[in-house]
Amino acid sequence: MSQGLEGVVAASTRLSHVVGEAGRLTIAGYAVEDLAPRASYEDVAYLLLYGRLPTSAERLAFARQLVERRQLLPIVTDVLREAAAVNAPPIDALRMAAPMLSLGRAEDPEDDSITAIASFPTIVGTYWRLLHGEAPVPVRFDLPHAGHYLHQLFGSEPPLERTRALETYLNTVCDHGLNASTFAARVIASTRSDVISAITGAIGALKGPLHGGAPGPALDMVFEISSADRAEAVIRAKLDRGERIMGFGHRVYRVRDPRADVLAHAADRFYSNGGDRNLYDLARSVESTALRLLRVYKPERRIDTNVEFYTALLLHGLGMPSELFTATFAVGRVTGWSAHCLEQLREGRLIRPQSEYVGPTDLRYDSLSEAGGRRSTHRSRGQEDASDDHVLTVSQAVE
Ligand code: CMC
Repeated sequence: MSQGLEGVVAASTRLSHVVGEAGRLTIAGYAVEDLAPRASYEDVAYLLLYGRLPTSAERLAFARQLVERRQLLPIVTDVLREAAAVNAPPIDALRMAAPMLSLGRAEDPEDDSITAIASFPTIVGTYWRLLHGEAPVPVRFDLPHAGHYLHQLFGSEPPLERTRALETYLNTVCDHGLNASTFAARVIASTRSDVISAITGAIGALKGPLHGGAPGPALDMVFEISSADRAEAVIRAKLDRGERIMGFGHRVYRVRDPRADVLAHAADRFYSNGGDRNLYDLARSVESTALRLLRVYKPERRIDTNVEFYTALLLHGLGMPSELFTATFAVGRVTGWSAHCLEQLREGRLIRPQSEYVGPTDLRYDSLSEAGGRRSTHRSRGQEDASDDHVLTVSQAVE
């Protein structure tokens, strides 16, 4: 058995190739450092959904399909309003709103995929504004995907370099092998469930701090350190307490995550053009201290910088507070989830591994024993008694 399925190959895919020892990532054949800073998100989404880059006519038609699906049904906005009333984190609000995307539409894997990709920026943007007591901004049909997300969040037309920086980020995280959320999506799709259900499950998997929840805490650490000379003490204290340093380490990469480099370059460019350069320099110095100390504290592991460290820096530069980071990751990754669902539906089999049973095997049920007797007495006194004990008995029977 492999704990956490480490090293297990559980699907074949043409979508992305992660080479952990070499620190290489290719997306449908293109190196991430070539594709992410230059392609539009629309092109990357087309590439993942259809296996090749679009022709000019296909590009226009696909962009139109996305634009036509930006508008949310009123019920989605209602759900978001309810979520804002209880101050739900944006990733939870997205997880609540996503299933509504199937309302009133016939199931169709391709259409569901394009609808989810098109709607996610509107959902997160609308939610962010509602959360802060602001009216959602009307959908714009003339902005590219990444620019539209920024417009939905902040209500003004973003300058070109901001759109480009966000687009680089979204492209960089669009797909990444069989990561936990993509695996969750593929498992759900493998049962022949629908793409919207699979995407909803994937959002839940992405939320955890060991997956898409890491960049917020990574940035918090940089702020907590606040000046380069404090980095050593703060990071040592964390490691002494047994804490993980967020933004470092990866299940597959044994060297630096290549996405970290793509985003570090994007952040460098961005912070050189008017951002807070001190923050960028501080982050670089925190990174090198963290790497040095991780080598001291965990010499047997090869822990290096992962994508989340520079995600935090870049998205912060774009004016996004850390609460938005995981939802923004989902805005980028929804394309990979969708493409994996389509691939699974086309080629895959039901994913149903086995578990190794490690519990007891030779127990005997005694209805009069201390543990079993009370339940048994309740049942025999009256079947009309819908007590918790009865419910427990029924659910055990169903298991
Ligand atoms: N800081 C300190 N210790 C670490 C770290 C870290 N960032 N990463 C791994 N370790 C240690 C861990 O404490 C454990 O030590 P020990 O054996 O002494 O108990 C050992 O390394 C093995 O841990 P593991 O969880 O079995 O290793 P893994 O290869 O499955 O770890 C990881 C992958 C991402 C869960 C882990 O590196 C981690 O928790 N990193 C911090 C969270 C993070 O940045 N997550 C984003 C991942 S990249 C984006 C994504 O895929 O979503």
